[in-house]
Amino acid sequence: MTSKTHIFITGATGYIGGSVLQRLLDHPKSDTFEITALVRSADKATTLNALGVTTTVASLSELDKLTELAAASDVIIHTADADDQNAAKAILHGLKARYDKTGKIPIYIHTRTILEVGLKFLGVLMDNAAGLHDTDVIYADTDPEQIESLPDTAAHRLVDLEVVAADKEVLPSTIYGIATGKLFDLGISHAYSQQIPAAIKASLDRGQGGMIGEGKNIWPNVEVHEQAELYQIILDAALSDPNTPHGRDGYYFGASDEYRLYDLAKAYSRALYDLGKGKSPEPTPFTAEEAHKYFGGVWLGSNARCKAERGRALGWKPTKTTKDFIESVRPEVEVIVAQNRRGGDPKKMSL
Ligand SMILES: NC(=O)c1ccc[n+]([C@@H]2O[C@H](COP(=O)([O-])OP(=O)(O)OC[C@H]3O[C@@H](n4cnc5c(N)ncnc54)[C@H](OP(=O)(O)O)[C@@H]3O)[C@@H](O)[C@H]2O)c1
Repeated sequence: MTSKTHIFITGATGYIGGSVLQRLLDHPKSDTFEITALVRSADKATTLNALGVTTTVASLSELDKLTELAAASDVIIHTADADDQNAAKAILHGLKARYDKTGKIPIYIHTRTILEVGLKFLGVLMDNAAGLHDTDVIYADTDPEQIESLPDTAAHRLVDLEVVAADKEVLPSTIYGIATGKLFDLGISHAYSQQIPAAIKASLDRGQGGMIGEGKNIWPNVEVHEQAELYQIILDAALSDPNTPHGRDGYYFGASDEYRLYDLAKAYSRALYDLGKGKSPEPTPFTAEEAHKYFGGVWLGSNARCKAERGRALGWKPTKTTKDFIESVRPEVEVIVAQNRRGGDPKKMSL
């Protein structure tokens, strides 16, 4: 009898983690997986147990538990709070302990972000365009030297430097779409992203669709199910071939197309206007005060361009384009307006 693959996942009640866990549960080889999820809600843990997922009710701050769970796993998929350095280090300690004990190299898939809230630091690839221009600078995930040229002062890069020594790192971009599957139907995992809703909620609050500057800056996007598929493809590849690019070569951007922030702002401004929640279908610039109040700064006006080559080399073939992305905006606006969700904590916005 072959032993099962022990997979430990964090953030399973979230948008990314829920989509990834859903794929693991739907995986053709799911009967060979023994999945453990770290969750904070005891109620959600009970529902997950009924779906065959073992749970530990704990927070990322319980470092000993993280180390213990990581040390007991063949695969760790970390999708909760990408910037928690202590949690990432605790997981790495667990991985090392497992390797020292068994000689087996565990698979660690860590989630980072291409675009990051700029309260304390700028994003991994972001510039200071403030919506006034685009850029020709495009980062490729197959070019570790270019990525490593980014300044180490950014807080998340400190996590990166620890993690990259270990294994694989997925860097999603603007994830969009409403996540589907049992985990979402049962209300276990968040079905909606945070970035687009954050901009919509800010616009709703000021009674007019807004953008930073002129919205000329460019970001990548990826549809949520295609993003989850990338995790699965990396996992499948790593399970069948230990030489699947890792370490310095282990950056995997999650990006399938690019958009100008103006086009996004135009889509939600139009929808808000049609719903009687905006004065004009044309987005107007957020004032400096508004940018600070809603987003903690003008990071929404940065450029962050990238080419996702590594995943494609493993067979990832995302088909969704910016047309799908723009079409996904109106349903998001309708849900937010219906729920009258206003404001938003910039510290909790993730890209
Ligand atoms: N969504 C995007 O477009 C995007 C793009 C790139 C990168 N990212 C990054 O990817 C990560 C996940 O994003 P997401 O959109 O999936 O966020 P999300 O929907 O808010 O989910 C976050 C998940 O992490 C869990 N979590 C957060 N803090 C925790 C803690 N201290 N202890 C235990 N669990 C904790 C949450 O648990 P609870 O349910 O208990 O709150 C939830 O399961 C974030 O770091 C985000 O910055 C997101």
